[in-house]
Amino acid sequence: MAGTSYWDYLHLDQLLGAQGGVDGTNVSSDELTFIVVHQVFELWFVIGLREVRLARDTLASNHVDETSIPTVVHHLRRLGEVLRQGVAHFDLVETLAPQDFLAFRDKLFPASGFQSFQMRELEALLGLDDAQRVAGGPADPIQHILDAAGNTPAGRLAISRIRALATEGTLHAALDAWLHRTPIDGSSPSDAQDEACVDAFVDRWLGAFDAHLHRTEEHLASTRGPDASIAARFASARASARTFLHATDVQEASRARRSRVRAAVLFIESYRHLPLLAWPRLLLDTLVETEEQLVLWRNRHARMVERVIGRRIGTGGSGGVEYLDRTATLRIFHDLWTVRTLLLPAEANPALLHADAYGFSKG
Ligand code: HEM
Repeated sequence: MAGTSYWDYLHLDQLLGAQGGVDGTNVSSDELTFIVVHQVFELWFVIGLREVRLARDTLASNHVDETSIPTVVHHLRRLGEVLRQGVAHFDLVETLAPQDFLAFRDKLFPASGFQSFQMRELEALLGLDDAQRVAGGPADPIQHILDAAGNTPAGRLAISRIRALATEGTLHAALDAWLHRTPIDGSSPSDAQDEACVDAFVDRWLGAFDAHLHRTEEHLASTRGPDASIAARFASARASARTFLHATDVQEASRARRSRVRAAVLFIESYRHLPLLAWPRLLLDTLVETEEQLVLWRNRHARMVERVIGRRIGTGGSGGVEYLDRTATLRIFHDLWTVRTLLLPAEANPALLHADAYGFSKG
């Protein structure tokens, strides 16, 4: 009996029979390139979605063992690599001159990557906040998929998966829960004095931040002379640090929780030399790296689009490059990015009271 064949295992009859475009046959080499690059992207998304789901599932457990954090990092790294590969594929699309694309573009209306179910699912699974989506894009990803011929097996699957996130949770939500219960200077949310301990940590840290900013400001003033606009910028940096760490920018009902999550990010990033914080810190860095790849993907796509079709309206009906550039300003893991503005040189960090809770060295 013959064993499995390469052809059957990879379902190549279906895969290689799917490049006929609208006409089903006789596409030009330019259109073939266009079709195949999109198909390859959609396949990369299959891998990416699986990896995010696995990372989310591990991080969403009530107790995330130290030894499972490398697994989460592993899954996220694969998604990052998928996006990095995707960025490179736009070079191939740019082998189409504007007129080469215009030769078949009219066939596409209103089809567009705008309608990619998997792109919307990826954003939703990562935890992109719908309220923060840019104008001119999909305000509601489920409605967007429905509008884009959602009554197909793939559309229905994507919709049911996005709906399931309401109970299963997003990667962002799982990260938030994990960060919220991270012990900060030895204190956990279940400890009676937790709020006071975390507040004291934040106050000590803000003191160190102010002192650091003061030194930088003095240094600048000594080299550039007094400058009211620079002084105002430093005052604003101090105020922003307080707004962020006290979470006064969020609704009062969620303020205490947000404030603890942000303190945890600051704590993990600042004391990364402590053995038990090394992997958590790598996880945070990997999340930032992964989101950076997504932003680079959006940017690279926008530059390719600008080169090939200029600033005309997209086949999906959006403002084209103008819309795409705004999507590149979207961020999912806001707190992880914002903390980077606040970090201090290691020697300026305030000493911890309970560094011994995190491994063998003193903080
Ligand atoms: C000549 C090549 C391409 C052009 C001119 C182009 C153009 C555009 C434009 C103008 C949009 C904005 C929506 C609209 O109004 O249509 C868009 C969205 C999009 N395109 Fe492309 N695109 C090209 C290739 C690709 C490729 C190869 C991919 C790979 C999957 C892709 C994926 C997407 C995605 C996912 C969106 C939605 C972005 C979002 O809403 O955040 N595009 N494209």
